[in-house]
Amino acid sequence: MEIITAVRGFKDVLPPETEKWRYIEETARDIFQTFGFREIRVPLLEKTTLFQRGIGESTDIVEKEMYTFVDRGDESLTLRPEATASVIRAYLEHALYNTETVTKLFTSGPMFRRERPQKGRYRQFHQIDAEILGPDDPHTDAELILMLMHFLKKLELPHLNLEINSLGCDQCRPPFRAAIHSFLRGQEEKLCSDCRRRLVTNPLRVFDCKVESCAAILSGAPLLQDFLCPPCREHFVKVQSSLDLFDLSYRLNPKMVRGLDYYTRTTFEVTQESHGAQNAVVGGGRYDHLVRDLGGPDISGIGFAIGFERLAAMTPKPKTDASDGPLLFIAILGDSAFDEAFRLCNTLRMKGVRVEMDHGGRSLKSQMKRADKLQSVYTLILGEREIAEKKALLRNMRASTQTEIHLDQIEETIIELER
Ligand code: HAM
Repeated sequence: MEIITAVRGFKDVLPPETEKWRYIEETARDIFQTFGFREIRVPLLEKTTLFQRGIGESTDIVEKEMYTFVDRGDESLTLRPEATASVIRAYLEHALYNTETVTKLFTSGPMFRRERPQKGRYRQFHQIDAEILGPDDPHTDAELILMLMHFLKKLELPHLNLEINSLGCDQCRPPFRAAIHSFLRGQEEKLCSDCRRRLVTNPLRVFDCKVESCAAILSGAPLLQDFLCPPCREHFVKVQSSLDLFDLSYRLNPKMVRGLDYYTRTTFEVTQESHGAQNAVVGGGRYDHLVRDLGGPDISGIGFAIGFERLAAMTPKPKTDASDGPLLFIAILGDSAFDEAFRLCNTLRMKGVRVEMDHGGRSLKSQMKRADKLQSVYTLILGEREIAEKKALLRNMRASTQTEIHLDQIEETIIELER
């Protein structure tokens, strides 16, 4: 019978990769908490309208990538393609804005987008997401970006590029839209069908097109940065001068538009040279109207999401002194030693010691081979004779030395070694 494999674009994360993931998550948790963030956990499934209204109908995500289905109660539900909309939904549903004027939340977990699977692009992927709700000042933008870069540096990622841009506000965009329309007049036919549609629904999206001929047409197009209203311009200048206080290098990228519609003012992405510009490891930005658009009060927000798979691929193996293997492997000779080994193994585990043993019936040679493979620090050889004489051989696998210890002292001796 054929085995059943995972769904295309859905990937297992196996050990030892999972250990790297845990290390990344713990590092994020530590750093984010220092910057005042608290953890929130939101459901994987939400009402479809949340993402339609939150992310925007004219985005690729909502137009073609969501896993949406009608459930048995005839309700349209969607597996979350990102966390921001869900975090804001929870923020509003529980009126968190009544308890704090500044709310800093982080979350991590799987997201779902039906994209074409390729290296670094999956249909189920994971994000670490952080959001600040409340303040709208440029220092908040700089503080968030600073925390992000500090975290990435802590993981010792080489060759990171931070790019920032401002997407302006409702004041700056209409004249920009008009300028794009007049620039592209007469060239609409040369654009891909998606871009022709975007020109009507949301012209900013044409900058997000991955088709080369569209990029060529747009190379001389007007840029939003030249249309920023004075408050947006001032905000962006202040974000930069605040970042400059911390010796952070960044590049201004006036063509970065991001793939979600909720952004206003500051947006940013982090890429790594070897992974190419299309594969940003982090994306984020300010969204001053999302809370309102989702039915809440007029509260500003800014956040980012880190792609876990991409981040893990770039992160060097964490340096730990400890061996990955158990402290002790109990090798058994003869069936009657099994019960004593089984008791000892699990008693030590309950006292916090990592112990392994075989489940019986194998030669001493193959058990020693397994102890070696597991990189066990010590091996205890327990046979019928040892039990009769109430003593056993404890072998230090690294120093290749062995000592005889009394059975009554084994637990104590091993616990002592663990310290
Ligand atoms: P995003 O740019 O769509 O932003 O995604 C953020 C990151 O998630 C990307 O930079 C990438 O590393 C990762 N990612 C996205 N799609 C995939 C995929 N198919 N496979 C693997 N990794 C992927 C957001 O999701 C916003 N919610 C970020 C944000 C938070 N903005 C404000 N707050």
